Amino acid sequence: MSDYSVETQILSLDPHQPEPQIISRAAEVLNAQGLVAFPTETVYGLGANALDEIAVDRIFAAKQRPFYDPLIVHISRKIDIDFVAQSIPEIAYVLAARFWPGPLTLVLKRHERVAPNVSAGLGTVAVRMPNHLIPLKLIEAAGVPVAAPSANLFTRPSPTSAQHVLDDLGGHVDLILDGGPCPIGLESTVLDLTAEHPTILRPGGAPAEALSEIIPDLILPSAKPFKDDTNAKPSPGMMLKHYSPKAKFLLFKGSSRNATEKVVEIARGLIAQGYKVGLMVTDEDHPQFVGMKAEIERLGSRQDLAGIGKILFARMRSLDKKGVDFILMRSLPSEGLGLAIGDRLFKAAEQQVIDLDSEKNLSNFFRFF
Ligand code: TXA
Ligand code: MG
Repeated sequence: MSDYSVETQILSLDPHQPEPQIISRAAEVLNAQGLVAFPTETVYGLGANALDEIAVDRIFAAKQRPFYDPLIVHISRKIDIDFVAQSIPEIAYVLAARFWPGPLTLVLKRHERVAPNVSAGLGTVAVRMPNHLIPLKLIEAAGVPVAAPSANLFTRPSPTSAQHVLDDLGGHVDLILDGGPCPIGLESTVLDLTAEHPTILRPGGAPAEALSEIIPDLILPSAKPFKDDTNAKPSPGMMLKHYSPKAKFLLFKGSSRNATEKVVEIARGLIAQGYKVGLMVTDEDHPQFVGMKAEIERLGSRQDLAGIGKILFARMRSLDKKGVDFILMRSLPSEGLGLAIGDRLFKAAEQQVIDLDSEKNLSNFFRFF
């Protein structure tokens, strides 16, 4: 796998009526083993011809993504599920009829014609039909299924604008199609249909509640062990970023009335120690943070999870650009899109949640500072 440096071209197009000549140009790039980044309803994808191993290799190189993490194959027609997968269970067609085009990815048995490196050598393949005219027209024009992970550098939040893609992958992608911001802003729900019971591997844009209406034996994402052990010493490992902003992300949970006050107090403490602090706050909490010497990003109302999902990654990136040392945020409700939002926040926080209702947990945590 070798990366190749290219001059990145950016072309803007209308997401509702993509200009055919730009689509043809992008299809040519895909057919010549090139990389094209494009918007979807979830996040921007970094696409290559899914039937071409060399083209797919370039995705891994550009993203600096490990080979063992498989990619999603995007199709433009529901019937193409049979082109990229085989031995497909009936439930897949039922789900495709109900959720496609849309933010649901189905893991199925891979057809051999799909390049094996798409699936990191697994016998399965993840497939989805995006609900966005730019990729739909592009895939149709290219005449091939398109493998595309989120178009961010490995370990960075997913991109929801062409600028985010350029920031991460400029010089490593041939063409970026700028179709404006992504309407959902969170990645698709990944559902494994090869397991004994359909299992959500990653919560996302298609809410679990809607899936469970059709799949009675649906298995939700396995609860990861909470690293509540704040006695652990801060180590270099603690600073390892998985899927997160560059700053240290502190995620708080707490239902007590003075939960927000406690976050204010903690932020003040960090500021007093000379740290540059970023805050992601809902409208409900915002009044208590006014006047604080911190970078504050508004998220909108905590009742509007769709609105928050749409801007979440952009706000993390924006705080990173401002060079903050810490980002503080309170957790949100977990219904509907809240499950996906909570998952992304949990990962950004390196699987640590600080419980504001537990004095012991809090004081242990702040022994670090
Ligand atoms: O919304 C989305 O899903 C976006 C847009 C561009 O479609 N794509 C995206 O791709 O988020 P990526 O690569 O960042 O995330 C794909 C996820 C990864 O967690 C990967 O492990 C999982 O899907 N995945 C892909 N193929 C799989 C397979 N064969 N079996 C299990 N998991 C798979
Ligand atoms: Mg990704």
